[in-house]
Amino acid sequence: MCVCGKKYVTKAKKVVAYLLFTTQCATIFAMKGIIITNQYDHSTTQSKKVLRMTCELEQLGVEVTVLSACQAMAYLHQGNTTCPVDADFVLYFDKDKYNAQMLEQCGLRLFNSSSATELCDDKMLTHIALANCGIPMPTTISAPLCYVAGSQPSKEFLQKVEQTLGFPLVAKQCFGSFGEQVYLVNNREELLQTYTKLMAVPHIYQQFVAESRGKDMRVIVIGNKVVCGMIRYSDSDFRSNIERGGRATSVQVPQDIANMCEQASKVLGLDYCGIDVLLGEQPTICEVNSNAMFAAMESVTGVNVAKAYAQHIVNSVKNSK
Ligand SMILES: Nc1ncnc2c1ncn2[C@@H]1O[C@H](COP(=O)(O)OP(=O)(O)OP(=O)(O)O)[C@@H](O)[C@H]1O
Ligand SMILES: [Mg+2]
Repeated sequence: MCVCGKKYVTKAKKVVAYLLFTTQCATIFAMKGIIITNQYDHSTTQSKKVLRMTCELEQLGVEVTVLSACQAMAYLHQGNTTCPVDADFVLYFDKDKYNAQMLEQCGLRLFNSSSATELCDDKMLTHIALANCGIPMPTTISAPLCYVAGSQPSKEFLQKVEQTLGFPLVAKQCFGSFGEQVYLVNNREELLQTYTKLMAVPHIYQQFVAESRGKDMRVIVIGNKVVCGMIRYSDSDFRSNIERGGRATSVQVPQDIANMCEQASKVLGLDYCGIDVLLGEQPTICEVNSNAMFAAMESVTGVNVAKAYAQHIVNSVKNSK
């Protein structure tokens, strides 16, 4: 009898053992799936996520092949897109929009789709896509893109940021994770320093939600339905990321936040995401992660996120046939 669905584990060794065990039970494969990982991401968290999803998909009768981006690299030849792989679906754990789009051109169904992944990878694109849909977000200004090497910071822009947002404010690079490219800017001098440092990269300035300092809610949404949530806290940093020392506790996601997250997931066209909600007087969407890790969420809430995602993938593929 197969044990994989009974209980999830966080220790890599145990997961490997479970995986070996499950290969013995999932003998009849009804579906073929490929998991594509980023060529350069060899992190343990990513490997664990791949193992968890492999395990749960196999339980549902999916034959899973794990490939690096290079092993599954589509390319253009004689004016046509050529793909080296075929399957009923691709679980795309990369963020490379080029390969994602070409794989879709070859008729592959990606989870998440290339357009959803692209929108979520860039924080400003996410905010723009969510705008005018009744979804609350902090006031956000995108820094003018700078294409001229050696340019001086624009005083006009800095004044605009200060007048609109006041201090402190938050600066973020459009591309980044784990809170690493997110900064708290306390005064005019720090603003000039930050802008000078970030001018050449796409970045945004955002209203600092003071009530949410060192605290936010991470919500997992699968198939446009909230699956679970946790509150993340930090005593030492305005960023609540677990990777920066934050702690987490399980939470029953309140209805208004659940509605907001489900709507955001629909607008962005996501199958799976982790949404960060800032807990101000009115909850606001901080960012949407299309490739959110789920190990911490599973251990804090006890919810089998991997199983829920695997089930969503299998149902979606079956329903599309
Ligand atoms: N406008 C804001 N006001 C208050 N706190 C904020 C604001 N924006 C971000 N934060 C804090 O900083 C953390 C990191 O910000 P954000 O989620 O945008 O960046 P990230 O690096 O992409 O994180 P992730 O690893 O979740 O992708 C948030 O979880 C939140 O605690
Ligand atoms: Mg975040």
